[in-house]
Amino acid sequence: MQVVHRIAELRDILHGAGRAAFVPTMGNLHAGHESLVRRAAEFGSPVVASIFVNRLQFAPQEDFERYPRTLSRDCRLLEHAGCDIVFAPDEQELYPEPQVYRVQPPPRLADILEGHFRPGFFVGVCTVVLKLFNAVQPRVAVFGKKDYQQWLVIRGMVGQFGLPIEVVGVETVRAASGLALSSRNGYLSESQRAEAPQLQRELQNVAQAVRAGRGDFPALEARAKSALEARGWSPEYVAIRRGSDLEPPLPDDDLVIVAAAKLGDARLIDNLEVARRPAET
Ligand code: PAJ
Repeated sequence: MQVVHRIAELRDILHGAGRAAFVPTMGNLHAGHESLVRRAAEFGSPVVASIFVNRLQFAPQEDFERYPRTLSRDCRLLEHAGCDIVFAPDEQELYPEPQVYRVQPPPRLADILEGHFRPGFFVGVCTVVLKLFNAVQPRVAVFGKKDYQQWLVIRGMVGQFGLPIEVVGVETVRAASGLALSSRNGYLSESQRAEAPQLQRELQNVAQAVRAGRGDFPALEARAKSALEARGWSPEYVAIRRGSDLEPPLPDDDLVIVAAAKLGDARLIDNLEVARRPAET
């Protein structure tokens, strides 16, 4: 596995090296990232993973400064997962001058939910992902459905700009407790870590009610939020949306239940897909 820090060097290596499968990350990697890398290997070669903590997608009060930088440990995980090339630029390499051009995703998809609570987040994500795509020029890019809205926003960007990249979504990897693995789980204390799986359990309660025929979605969302509040969480949203575009769902639409909530210092997100279309025969 090669570790490169410069775009020019990356281009040299990739030149004539086939069509890359690409996994962008911010490092502090775990088994969720590992599964993306393994998946990427099924779609293309070489497998390229990037590690870059992108200042543009953090609001001033967020955790940019304390986001864990663990490059050597990350490289061991990536090598073990079958990664061929790690692209780890520093800020000067990706943003040699202030990034004044930005990718502006549509407000209807990107200013709701995560985008509502983290204004500018998806502008920062799209801008860096476009730059990374440009550096790597992959055939396939692999994203986790843990960040469901991010996956949709990137898919939309690739579609609308006509980028010749297939965007693959990978299922969320969870701890045995049901907790979605996340780099931010490291912010949890021991007792919070024991409580954290409750977020997924609340989503399962909502899903169960929906499957049982409950159509009063606002009441189900409110009930889930109060259940979390009663246990010491500060929920930001619990929302039942159409899986394809996060719009309010129509009766037969497949659904995704998305949620974000703070537990102490850690802001956790999770989601659960609920299929409702009659299975095709
Ligand atoms: P990061 O949070 O490091 O996540 C990198 C990729 O790993 C994303 O596609 C994310 O959805 C996926 N991922 C995280 N946890 C996962 C889990 N438990 N199971 C499966 N996949 C998981 O997302 C970002 O970085 C950044 O926004 C980035 C796209 C790199 C742009 O800066």
